[in-house]
Amino acid sequence: MIQIKKRKSQLTVYEKNQLLQYGFQEVDLINQGELPVEYLTGFVNFANLTLKIKPNVLIPRVETEELVSLIIDFASDNLKTIRYLEVGTGSGAISLAFFTYLLQHKKLSLKKFILTDISPTALTLAKENFSRLFKEEMSHKVKFLESNLLAKFSNKRKNQQQFNVIVANLPYIPSDQISALDCSVKNYEPCLALDGGSTGFELINQMLIQITAKNLLAKNGKIFLEVYPTHNLLFIQTYFPKIAQEFLIKEVQDQFAKQRFLILQRR
Ligand SMILES: C[S@@+](CC[C@H](N)C(=O)[O-])C[C@H]1O[C@@H](n2cnc3c(N)ncnc32)[C@H](O)[C@@H]1O
Repeated sequence: MIQIKKRKSQLTVYEKNQLLQYGFQEVDLINQGELPVEYLTGFVNFANLTLKIKPNVLIPRVETEELVSLIIDFASDNLKTIRYLEVGTGSGAISLAFFTYLLQHKKLSLKKFILTDISPTALTLAKENFSRLFKEEMSHKVKFLESNLLAKFSNKRKNQQQFNVIVANLPYIPSDQISALDCSVKNYEPCLALDGGSTGFELINQMLIQITAKNLLAKNGKIFLEVYPTHNLLFIQTYFPKIAQEFLIKEVQDQFAKQRFLILQRR
């Protein structure tokens, strides 16, 4: 049971602006304990988009916008057609930002665009965000699929079209680190979106095993992951050697020089 207290700290400029933008008063948040401002207003800004957000769905983070930039750079420099899959889409933030880019840059032809999540609440919100942002006639281009990782995907045979962009910002916090998270996160955001098992890499590992076993990644395709800062190449070679054997792995730091992303391709 969460104890609702007054906020310990003063509201930040960001929080004040968010409240102002959506017609709330400072006092509305002060009396809400450590509730993230986005859950109060019901909106979050991500990559120049305004998305709806609600409790039980992770609030997309500004750092994740960099993952979108990595995908855009890869797609625009290397691909002509896009066969895209996101695993664990949450509010849909990453995919909706990339979809926006695709609509604005028509030289990339869209063949497949699939968003999955295990949480029906998240998937419903992702669909709602899609409908709010894009015209009805776009809806046939995108598929929303409720699935535990890639359980609902069947094996791709030799000449079948595989995905050439796979993205996942799956839960990656090691279970024993959850209690150390900020109260505004651990008391309000869904554990299903945070807890990545004993090493934090457990779900990501399972997904990568499924991608290999089901032959889902095209030869020229890449997998883009957001990970915990300790999930670097050495960590994977040490604890998940099969993954290191299967994929070429590139570490990418975020704008604060923190190890945050991995880009994988088939060897
Ligand atoms: C860290 S959140 C990221 C959400 C969104 N992609 C973003 O970047 O804001 C992780 C998401 O993975 C989903 N998830 C957790 N376990 C999953 C599983 N076994 N299969 C598919 N999705 C899962 C959660 O419901 C949550 O929406």
